[in-house]
Amino acid sequence: MLIRDARQVRLLEQKIIAAAAIKRGFTVHMRQKYLYVTGNGVGPHKFLKGWTSAQGQFTRLFRNKQATKDVLKAFGASVPEGALFHAHEAERALDYAGYLGWPVVLKPDTGNKGRHVYVNISDAATFRNRFSTIAGTTQTVVVEKMVPYSTEYRFFYLDKKIVSIIRRIPANVTGDGKSTIDALVGTKNTLRKARGNGRYGRFPMIVLDEESRALLSERGLTPNSVLPAGETLHLRKIGNLSAGGDTISVMAEFHPSYAERMEAIFRNLPGCLLLGLDVFVRDHSQPCDESNYTIIEVNPAPGYRMHVYPWQGEAVDLGGLIVDAIFPDRPSVAPRNAPVSRSQFLHVIKKALLRRFRMNRHMR
Ligand SMILES: Nc1ncnc2c1ncn2[C@@H]1O[C@H](COP(=O)(O)OP(=O)(O)O)[C@@H](O)[C@H]1O
Ligand SMILES: [Mg+2]
Repeated sequence: MLIRDARQVRLLEQKIIAAAAIKRGFTVHMRQKYLYVTGNGVGPHKFLKGWTSAQGQFTRLFRNKQATKDVLKAFGASVPEGALFHAHEAERALDYAGYLGWPVVLKPDTGNKGRHVYVNISDAATFRNRFSTIAGTTQTVVVEKMVPYSTEYRFFYLDKKIVSIIRRIPANVTGDGKSTIDALVGTKNTLRKARGNGRYGRFPMIVLDEESRALLSERGLTPNSVLPAGETLHLRKIGNLSAGGDTISVMAEFHPSYAERMEAIFRNLPGCLLLGLDVFVRDHSQPCDESNYTIIEVNPAPGYRMHVYPWQGEAVDLGGLIVDAIFPDRPSVAPRNAPVSRSQFLHVIKKALLRRFRMNRHMR
């Protein structure tokens, strides 16, 4: 089906791309679940949610969280220490957690949207319990150190540059001294829906589920408790937008050294067109060094909506930037999504290992 108006497209990430492509006079089709775009003699390229066929093959690596951290670490980036365990190795994993030091985080090696990510685990009983929950859904479980500082960001890397930084605040409500937590959640969800133009896609709902009730009861609260005026209460431990989190666009207030550091790390890796980097930063106003940021995850099919429709702060025209990067006026000679050859891949790994070897030698 030929698309002439982005309103014909249902999924938000595809809609964002379609709007930018139509504005530039490009040809846009919808076939089965994919959006196809051709323009400036490039394409067609396919789009689905945050995934695009213009992305290089190397980014498959990032589907595995532990392997991602191993490679990034070898390139000198700061990542949480951790290891991978089979679903049947709960006791070995527990020993390892003791060696790492509590608190730890447990998560599936291949997951997204914060599903089955358990943070701040600090005792063996909770560890076993969470481990077996994850083991029930997947073969491999990551055990890693909990990042000691708490402010989390999503960096959007596009065509060798950081183009947007979003602060991610876990789902939260602020008290008025009269309303119950349950009512505050209702009010905030109504606001989220209104701000999302009547749809929940831009700002997914906050759900008071078992996890958030447990968080409340840790603080001696229930959904019927009244929150004091001005007090902000977090209803989740993780910052994902899909878990009801708030997204604040903050690139302008960031010390530029963080964007530069991320660009320097990811430029080493071939064929990365666009990436969403989950990064904890101790203090964004201070210059970046290896002790004050931690990359916890790299998303090769990142969501666009939090940058285009932030809860607060300046919106970024990510659709326009992505379309211009993939369908430039003057296409470069080498196709962007050329498969990474075996030798190219080995070259990257070798370079990484050599670097690590040199670092180790330096430390001895
Ligand atoms: N090592 C960690 N320390 C602190 N928080 C973490 C850690 N790992 C994950 N989290 C929290 O859990 C969220 C989801 O984890 P992540 O690895 O990004 O998985 P997903 O792919 O499901 O988004 C993160 O955005 C962060 O809020
Ligand atoms: Mg994530």
